[in-house]
Amino acid sequence: MNSRTTTAQASVNYSVIDGVAVALLDALPVNALSVYLRRELCDAMDRAAADPTVRAVVLGSTGKIFCAGADITEFGKPPVAPSLPEVLSRIEGSPKPVVAAINGAALGGGCELTLACHARVAGPKAGFGLPEVKLGLIPGAGGTQRLPRILPPADAFAMMLSGRSIKADEAAAKGLADEIANDPIAAARALALRLADAGSWPVTSARKIADGGAEAFAEAAADARRKHGGLLSTGALIRAVQAALTKPFQEGLAVEREEFLKLIPSDQAVALRHVFFAERIAGHIPGMTKEMSARAVESVAIIGAGTMGGGIAMTFANAGIPVRLIETSRELLDKGIGRIRDNYAVSVQRGSMSQDAMDAVLAQIDGAVGLEGVAAADLVIEAVFEDMDVKRQIFAEIGRFAKPGAILATNTSYLDVNEIAQASGRPADVLGLHFFSPANVMRLLEVVRADETAPDVLATAVALGRRIGKLPVVSGVCFGFIGNRMLAQRTRAAERLLLAGNSPTGIDAAITAFGFRMGQFAMLDLAGIDIGWRTRKAFGGFAPVGDRLAEMGRFGQKTGRGFYIYAEGQRKGTPDPEVAAIAASEARALGITPELLARDQLIERLFYPMVNEGVRILDEGIAYRPSDIDLVWINGYGWPNWTGGPMFWADQVGLDRIVASLTEQAERLNAPELVPAPLLVQLAAEGRNLASLTKGNQV
Ligand code: 3HC
Repeated sequence: MNSRTTTAQASVNYSVIDGVAVALLDALPVNALSVYLRRELCDAMDRAAADPTVRAVVLGSTGKIFCAGADITEFGKPPVAPSLPEVLSRIEGSPKPVVAAINGAALGGGCELTLACHARVAGPKAGFGLPEVKLGLIPGAGGTQRLPRILPPADAFAMMLSGRSIKADEAAAKGLADEIANDPIAAARALALRLADAGSWPVTSARKIADGGAEAFAEAAADARRKHGGLLSTGALIRAVQAALTKPFQEGLAVEREEFLKLIPSDQAVALRHVFFAERIAGHIPGMTKEMSARAVESVAIIGAGTMGGGIAMTFANAGIPVRLIETSRELLDKGIGRIRDNYAVSVQRGSMSQDAMDAVLAQIDGAVGLEGVAAADLVIEAVFEDMDVKRQIFAEIGRFAKPGAILATNTSYLDVNEIAQASGRPADVLGLHFFSPANVMRLLEVVRADETAPDVLATAVALGRRIGKLPVVSGVCFGFIGNRMLAQRTRAAERLLLAGNSPTGIDAAITAFGFRMGQFAMLDLAGIDIGWRTRKAFGGFAPVGDRLAEMGRFGQKTGRGFYIYAEGQRKGTPDPEVAAIAASEARALGITPELLARDQLIERLFYPMVNEGVRILDEGIAYRPSDIDLVWINGYGWPNWTGGPMFWADQVGLDRIVASLTEQAERLNAPELVPAPLLVQLAAEGRNLASLTKGNQV
């Protein structure tokens, strides 16, 4: 017998072979457990229970992903029965044994589905994870109750707190998978029949929690509160796992459900769902279809073996793409490659990389002296210092040496990519690939689309960015692109606040209390105050205190003094009264009156101008959509993801409030850059939000 029940949205492919009902989730792309799939699963279980020829059930899936969990698009909408916990309790209470055959990722509710089964067979590509915290949630279909009945509670808690996935072998070692098999469905069928023959099978909810786990869990919970106490999901997870340890299963399940349902509409969860979908939409380039051919990139040449070039080289080598570093001399090349080797050696020392893996990545990297070395590369990335004349010269040469069809990219942070592209003589092949430092660590990649960049070059760069593990966001050409252009507004605003008598410590504390890891001035001290100073000298900008400090040779951490003082070998600075004195004297010269502000006022002064710039960036078509700007700030500048990014945050604050504040400040401070952008004013007047600028979004 072989039949297939289908709805328009999802289906379970059900067949009975030799006494085993095989029910395969079949809802591409990721088998999200929508109401349709939940209903179909219940139907399949009913059919299997009612069919006297069926002795056992196997739950598997078609496609590469076993199941991505609950359907995230349903969150925030009225719940429709059957709920996932109901479906899972039917599976667990099945009168016939149910074995999960896990061929790929089993995440969130998908992992919980496997925990409700009586046994689990993992294929080689199986993965188990409960990543709900990344969505501001906790597992809501029994995960917090069943997982601590399989793993030691502290380990189960750690897995849910991190949202980390584990592979088949680790799952088997921990007892989460009962078997690993190349053909998980066949192995699951055999195991299911063995359980049916035995007449009894393990039921996770009936298992006793391992003795002695409570103490380790309490320690892990205290540590989590210290490190992640600001996230609502942390407390909820602790309470749910605590309930697993202290209450009968059904009561624990009720605690979990209550916590889960409370989190769903929370600001943090709504913001994190926004980020989840933003990351997926960022890959959609208007006017471009998936079918558009992408150019093949199997080798890369990087010009400049400095810190940035080296980090970029490591990124490609880590992704298994051969890299050639190019320098002007053998000495510089050896130095650059030596630095890369040292970086990997640190990973080996720390145990996060094996010596073999280090040897393998290093084998992907070679070097050459002279620009002729780019000839064989499919992609050439220039990563030399920010000097337009030098870049123009390099592009003129690589335009000659690179093979036809090669993509030519500049890693500039702010220079005009159009001008660089023209110098190459083949501007259609040119674009910006703005990596963030350290390039092998930071996830953001601004892909800068110049006026003449060919569509397939852009499509290739975005796809390649994802392939090397980055989050590519497309930006048009403007000074500083999306991220640094907005940062310039925050720098300007922070300087204004300093001049008004607010301390670097107070301003930084407001920023870190908002959720950033680092404040504005601590960041400038780390990056080097001289960098912004040189850029301002060439292109203008307002930072009188920063300029004075740079003129005094106070460049930040590297010179032991900047906005803060750094004791020898210390990365954390202490306040310096001299900075306040410099700010006061500059303020007097500029006729600025003191204005000491509370934390929330500081946040308004710092972030509203950034939002204003973001709206200009949208209006000019530099960014495709507000959510792209959010991703830039979350992944490149440390904006806390649980607030959704600056544009999402602005919608929560209310655009009318931002317009009113900016208008007042622009007038009082005589600051034309603070005049609200016309699009911002228009949206506020129409009662619309920024999200409404994205096609398909509701007002
Ligand atoms: N619900 C709804 N849609 C989902 C989804 C989900 N759980 N997971 C993925 N999708 C959608 C994506 O939005 C995307 O849609 P698009 O094509 O329209 O942009 C499409 O499926 C493909 O997703 P990806 O582009 O992410 O595909 P990948 O192959 O790169 O990655 C994945 C696959 C690893 C499964 C990844 O999609 C993922 O991590 N998904 C989310 C997993 C997750 O967080 N699950 C927990 C959900 S909450 C839960 O289960 C609560 C429970 O405890 C009650």
